[in-house]
Amino acid sequence: MELRGRTTVVTGGASGIGRALTLRFAREGANVVVADVDEPGMAAVAGEAQALGVKALAVRTDVTELAQVQTLAARAFETFGAVHVLCNNAGVAAWGGLETATHRDWQWVLGVNLWGVIHGVEAFVPRMIARGEPAHIVNTASMAGLIASKGLGVYNTSKYAVVGLSETLVKDLKPHRIGVSVLCPLGVETRIRDSERSRPAALRNERAERAEPMQLIGRHLSPETVADMVLAAIHANELYVITHDESLEPLRRRFERMERSILDRRR
Ligand SMILES: NC(=O)c1ccc[n+]([C@@H]2O[C@H](COP(=O)([O-])OP(=O)(O)OC[C@H]3O[C@@H](n4cnc5c(N)ncnc54)[C@H](O)[C@@H]3O)[C@@H](O)[C@H]2O)c1
Repeated sequence: MELRGRTTVVTGGASGIGRALTLRFAREGANVVVADVDEPGMAAVAGEAQALGVKALAVRTDVTELAQVQTLAARAFETFGAVHVLCNNAGVAAWGGLETATHRDWQWVLGVNLWGVIHGVEAFVPRMIARGEPAHIVNTASMAGLIASKGLGVYNTSKYAVVGLSETLVKDLKPHRIGVSVLCPLGVETRIRDSERSRPAALRNERAERAEPMQLIGRHLSPETVADMVLAAIHANELYVITHDESLEPLRRRFERMERSILDRRR
């Protein structure tokens, strides 16, 4: 898909991967809509995009609230007439065993990581279909949506769901010429380890103690490298954007365990 003159929307666009995606799209000549809860951050990114010669709109959006994502979609379509690329990217991480996860941890992480993506689909897909132009949706999951890690269960649950949603969405939207990609990185140099900064007061744990972020295997890529890979996947209409070669062995081992369960039963 040629992005020049088209319109892109990125949630979580104020920082990290979302910021890099927004600026990568702007460099391609696309108009950009930045949606985030971090108002100064998204205003700065919109300013950077404008300096690249494209139109940019920043819309404060808490993706956990359907009404706010509906407003985001309405603003984007009113301003630019169409949306060609939607990145449901906003996400947060919480660390610690499932046996100690609080209800607030579940509400916060699933609210942003899963309901945020669902709200993006609910608000944008009907408008994209009505518009009838080719479009693409990128959902940011994680390698944590394909491989489970001890101490990351709440996050794993949210990201596995995003992978499942995306794998189905690609089938459902094919007749409408809307492609879907699901982004599954390992480590990326962003502020994800400081996710608590955006946790709403009402969902803070009563006891402040929390597990330290765990160390991921493999390299940490720059958000810009990841954004390049996403752009290539949009152009090639590829479902999986698996950014790290280091993912191959754990993925193979997971599949082999499943294969063994079938083969062992046959014996
Ligand atoms: N950094 C990594 O190692 C890594 C690896 C795999 C997947 N991811 C995923 O990448 C995505 C982007 O995260 P990042 O690494 O760039 O982190 P980041 O913390 O740098 O950026 C996340 C952005 O999401 C925004 N956000 C948080 N809650 C929000 C809400 N309710 N509504 C709207 N925006 C909200 C934050 O303000 C921030 O700007 C997330 O979905 C994350 O789970 C990151």
